[in-house]
Amino acid sequence: MKYLINGGNKLFGRLEVDSAKNAILPIIASTIMCDEECVIKEIPMYLDVIEMSAILEKLGKKVEFRDGNLIISGSLNSTSVIMAETKTLRSSIFMLGPILAKYRKAIFTSPGGCDIGKRPIDIHIAGLKSLGVKFTYANDLIYADASKMQVGEVELSFPSVGATENIMMASVLNDGEITVIRNCAREPEIVDLAKFINSMGGKIFGAGYETIVIYGVKKLHGTSFRCIGDRILAGTYLIAAAMCGGRIELEGIDPNFLLPLIVFLRNSGCNIDLFSDKITLENFSKLKSIGKIETSTFPGFPTDLQSLILVMQTISKGTSIIHETVFEARFKVVAELAKMGAKISVSERYATIIGVNKLKPSNVVCPDLRGGAALVLAGLVAKGTTEVDEIFHIERGYYNFDKNLRSLGANIEKVE
Ligand code: EPZ
Repeated sequence: MKYLINGGNKLFGRLEVDSAKNAILPIIASTIMCDEECVIKEIPMYLDVIEMSAILEKLGKKVEFRDGNLIISGSLNSTSVIMAETKTLRSSIFMLGPILAKYRKAIFTSPGGCDIGKRPIDIHIAGLKSLGVKFTYANDLIYADASKMQVGEVELSFPSVGATENIMMASVLNDGEITVIRNCAREPEIVDLAKFINSMGGKIFGAGYETIVIYGVKKLHGTSFRCIGDRILAGTYLIAAAMCGGRIELEGIDPNFLLPLIVFLRNSGCNIDLFSDKITLENFSKLKSIGKIETSTFPGFPTDLQSLILVMQTISKGTSIIHETVFEARFKVVAELAKMGAKISVSERYATIIGVNKLKPSNVVCPDLRGGAALVLAGLVAKGTTEVDEIFHIERGYYNFDKNLRSLGANIEKVE
């Protein structure tokens, strides 16, 4: 499948921002800890959500998509998470913590994910080990034994999102015991995961701060929950409107999740208004380059918006330098943007972008999820027909992307 885009249209209109992929995925994993019915409302059909649900179903859970909701119940009949999907789906590693919490043993393969770097799990393993989980390795499999998991203090060597979530979930059912995790990641999706688990009767305090305290409980009960809006989707649409020109209104997003981007967009010349659950952006002038941009963990500028701010700089007046501090190989989209006339040079974790007047239409191929989304934005501003191929990468984390952009006035079609 590919997108055919005829660039040059301005964008006008309003969009409801879908629920956050990176909140939904660990939340789906956390339902492993509860046999009763859990309902995740208004679930977007991201490919990653479909894959994660399929893994849960293969492990024995009852999984149903009904009336736009995802309904999960039942218990596992296997704790061996060894299947094809786990090789491609990074978030399958989020199942380790919940399975150990409830079943106290697991067999795993080292997870896959986007081609943006090694994606190791050493911080996950180190944290679980300090809670007493024993690991053995054979034939590319990881055997985890949590029969003697006790509680205590975990200090993460780096505020890893996944490791914070995994270790937090592993501690939820240590009945009557207290676990403290320090140097935690502070992303809003972690706060949403804690809220979800607390709605099942969990006792997690401090999510969103660098120290999280978990009071273990005996059992969790069913719940019904709607996740927060996806800040990376919202950032993508804001940058699309900034690049194309026009005026859009995004509903269902907390501006506090996007403050560094909002500052960058204002400095580029966009008019932005913020409301409690809505952001509006208007721009009808040539964008000014932002200068130095550095990605970091929340509340800094998110690495997941790095490809999107990069493509915005390709048509901004002046020179910018982007420093990607989180992943070691997240500039794969640069080669594809060069086909469209972008002037970008990369050295290790730095990209230098010299703004050009306009991008040229071309046939390009998605290198990964966020790089793919950036290529779509490049096509939206390049006058003429751009083909963006291998869009399954994008559909992992964007649902109805072409339909939403068309509703704002973009000329984009999905074709075989
Ligand atoms: C989550 O991945 C997100 N995925 C990523 O979003 C996001 O880019 C990332 O957090 C950072 O915000 C989901 O939530 C499903 P990390 P995760 O552990 O948990 C290194 C997207 O586009 N690291 O915070 O895998 C790692 O290699 C995706 O939606 C270790 O070295 O990210 C990376 O360099 C892409 N050892 C850095 O830490 C470990 O044990 C950040 O990784 C774990 C991580």
